[in-house]
Amino acid sequence: MPRSSAPPPAGRTRRPRVVLLPGDGVGPEIAAEARVVLGMLAPDVELEERPIGAAAIRATGDPLPEETLAACRAADAVLKGPVGDPEFDAADVRPEQGLLRLREALDAYANLRPAVSGDVDVLIVRELVGGLYFGARGVRDDGTVFDTCEYHPRLIERLVRRAFTLARSRRGQLTSVDKANVLETSRLWRRIVGEVAADYPDVRVEHMLVDNAAMQLAVAPQRFDVIATENMFGDILSDLAAAVTGGLGLAPSASLAEGGPGIFEPVHGSAPDIAGRGIANPAAMLRSLALLLEHALGRIEEARSLARAVEHALAAAPTPDLGGVSTTAELGAAVREQLALTVSKAPA
Ligand code: IPM
Ligand code: MG
Repeated sequence: MPRSSAPPPAGRTRRPRVVLLPGDGVGPEIAAEARVVLGMLAPDVELEERPIGAAAIRATGDPLPEETLAACRAADAVLKGPVGDPEFDAADVRPEQGLLRLREALDAYANLRPAVSGDVDVLIVRELVGGLYFGARGVRDDGTVFDTCEYHPRLIERLVRRAFTLARSRRGQLTSVDKANVLETSRLWRRIVGEVAADYPDVRVEHMLVDNAAMQLAVAPQRFDVIATENMFGDILSDLAAAVTGGLGLAPSASLAEGGPGIFEPVHGSAPDIAGRGIANPAAMLRSLALLLEHALGRIEEARSLARAVEHALAAAPTPDLGGVSTTAELGAAVREQLALTVSKAPA
């Protein structure tokens, strides 16, 4: 019987539940490090591991098996590795479909992608369950293939409100990114941002076209605080933001719902070119775990300790993507060593 159907024992709060989805490519290697660190920082958490993506297709024929989805729904949070495998590039059933279905099923609509280094501190707030990724698609009789970008005003408004609230808790500046000179959905987006702005008079708002935003992110990333944008623009701009702040191996993300479990996952892909060699940088996965500790479990202290330990370990034992020679396991060990120091130094 699934644990989810058992009520928590009377008089005792149940243990927090996290589902780990290692995913594909380098996923299992970086997930292994996250698993050990989670056990160290939150030993009371019940951890359950399930397949998603190519691993799940191989095991069950489905990139998001029913058991995986049920476990995620019943959890407090989902910690997910990357999905994707070139073997399925031309297939009808693809690993990425599992991820998109999971985001949609959990309604994890607010994707927070922080990019921080030196004087740069950008938070991309990407809409995650609408737009081109989820619009009507198909093939017409004449052979034309189409994907459509669709947005209901409600989907835009809830994302934009989250972004304003986040901007208010930071430096009070929101850049809304769109393509309003061409797209209807962008004109709707811009109008809603204007309306919601009235409720946040303390936040400075600017509108920026996505091509300009890409250029500005590349040449002057320190000018941004919070960037709010739709699904596809956010996908592309978040890779760029990661690249200008140290690389894809470092960038974590949190995909939050309203009340239900969120998904915490690296921005990077499955990196099939280096999979299985034990050299992938686990920092993005560990930072995603830090976001999980903070946003899903409310363990702010543990989240901060982990973020600091990752920072320290990256400097002490960099992996090849950063010009170092450390393996995935060595960076993981450096993080744990640092954590052990922090924990033993903590006042009783
Ligand atoms: C990301 C990834 C996914 C996306 C892919 C794997 C479907 O690129 O999380 O940014 O496009 O959202
Ligand atoms: Mg992406």
